[in-house]
Amino acid sequence: MSPERSPLVLVSNRGPVTFQDDGSVKRGTGGLVTALTGLASHRDAVWIASALTEGDVHKAQEEGGRPFNVRSPAGGEYSVRLVASDPDAYDRFYNVFANPMLWFIQHYLWDLSNAPDIRRNEVEAFEYGYNVVNEDLAEAVIEEIEGTDEPVVMVHDYHLYTLPALVRRARPDAFLHHFIHIPWTQSDAWRVLPTRIREEIYSGLLANDIIGFHTSSYKRNFLQCCRDLMDLEVDFEAGVVRFEDREVWVRNYPLPIDAEATCAVAASDRTKEFEGELLKRRRDHLILRVDRADLSKNVLRGFSGFDLFLDQHPEFRERVTFIAQLMPSRTDVTEYAEYLERIEALVAVVNHRHGTPDWMPIQLKLRDDLEEAVAAYKHYDVLLVNAMFDGMNLVAKEGPLVNERAGVSILSENTGAHEELGEFALSVNPFDIQELADSIHAALTMAPPERRRRLDGLQEIVTARDPGDWIDEQLADIRKKGGTRSGRGRG
Ligand code: G6P
Repeated sequence: MSPERSPLVLVSNRGPVTFQDDGSVKRGTGGLVTALTGLASHRDAVWIASALTEGDVHKAQEEGGRPFNVRSPAGGEYSVRLVASDPDAYDRFYNVFANPMLWFIQHYLWDLSNAPDIRRNEVEAFEYGYNVVNEDLAEAVIEEIEGTDEPVVMVHDYHLYTLPALVRRARPDAFLHHFIHIPWTQSDAWRVLPTRIREEIYSGLLANDIIGFHTSSYKRNFLQCCRDLMDLEVDFEAGVVRFEDREVWVRNYPLPIDAEATCAVAASDRTKEFEGELLKRRRDHLILRVDRADLSKNVLRGFSGFDLFLDQHPEFRERVTFIAQLMPSRTDVTEYAEYLERIEALVAVVNHRHGTPDWMPIQLKLRDDLEEAVAAYKHYDVLLVNAMFDGMNLVAKEGPLVNERAGVSILSENTGAHEELGEFALSVNPFDIQELADSIHAALTMAPPERRRRLDGLQEIVTARDPGDWIDEQLADIRKKGGTRSGRGRG
């Protein structure tokens, strides 16, 4: 088969753009959108996504549920089809089951002696929420590939684990490829879910031909889960799991950044305006973090580490600022709303403890502004990425690309990016606050040639591949497996 010529459909919960109430278009957030942007705008592909805002629902209705072309403010033109689900079903899907249930399982975030309680609410959120949204999107996929030969469907992320089985049932000939942008945790983490739900999720996912992850360790965990939880035959060497009468390939493709696009943002006028502001207020040293305000990002321990650093190194008082640019995220989920409150409270405490009338140690910016973030990327001395667990983390790649001060990266060993960048970063155990404080000190006192050596190393790695390569690697595997698929029944 030739995936380059086969009709291509992408499907994910979040699409490349969202429509605001006033009809204006905003770029979708998160690593997934960054990853797919190139593919969808450079190829004849239809991108099917959920309608997330009132504006999206309105647009979907206006277009009669059909695909339409749209230009993203971040560049690129897409053919998008927005699918509006029943609002109650969507709420259960997004706010109860996908986030937090699956997200928390896949980042080891549950504090198991306290939560979660599985009650009817959670089970119904799966049946009447998660599955309904998966069915709605599956229906759109099936409609889109109707009448086409050997279509290729690329499914994305943890929102859509039950969709592949639905598409497979309707179109046994379709090639289904699923990329998971978040970690795959070890098997016991999945035991939180009732067996029936867990099995439905794994069977849904195993209806794919290929399942992709960012790292080899997520791939290994997934294969081990198939053995432990589904009692399936697994080949770790070959990356193959046998399910029913088929072989499913499990692969890892680490996601690169789009260096050209990031450099273009770095050179934009709006970014320069932010730089001007930043440089006016700059102290000797700048520590930066840029994240969604997500529990997995470990924001609180980041501030505690900074607090400890200031206690232990008073000579840095008034000489260093920590900018934390955090985008509020999933705020209808109680855990996320509470997390934001705890972040604000801790910032107040640290600023109160160490601040002076003209020095605020932590500057908290609760907003999603790409140019403002990139302006800060250019001027940090230390970039802090201390996530507890993180699928990849693109900030760890984008920051070093445009940094102009030989900034040092402090990088959690539990991020996907660490598999590639660890050698040139200061690695930290994200739970070890003393180690973080020591790393901040080491980074701020590091000799300039060593800082330069590390940044050069990071830049070389992050520019070695681009999202086009990432897609090509996946298409090459689709071609390879597609060629052997006539033997589907025989495996
Ligand atoms: C991560 C997930 C994406 C998700 C993004 C933003 O990158 O892997 O699937 O879209 O976070 O989260 P949100 O809930 O706002 O879509």
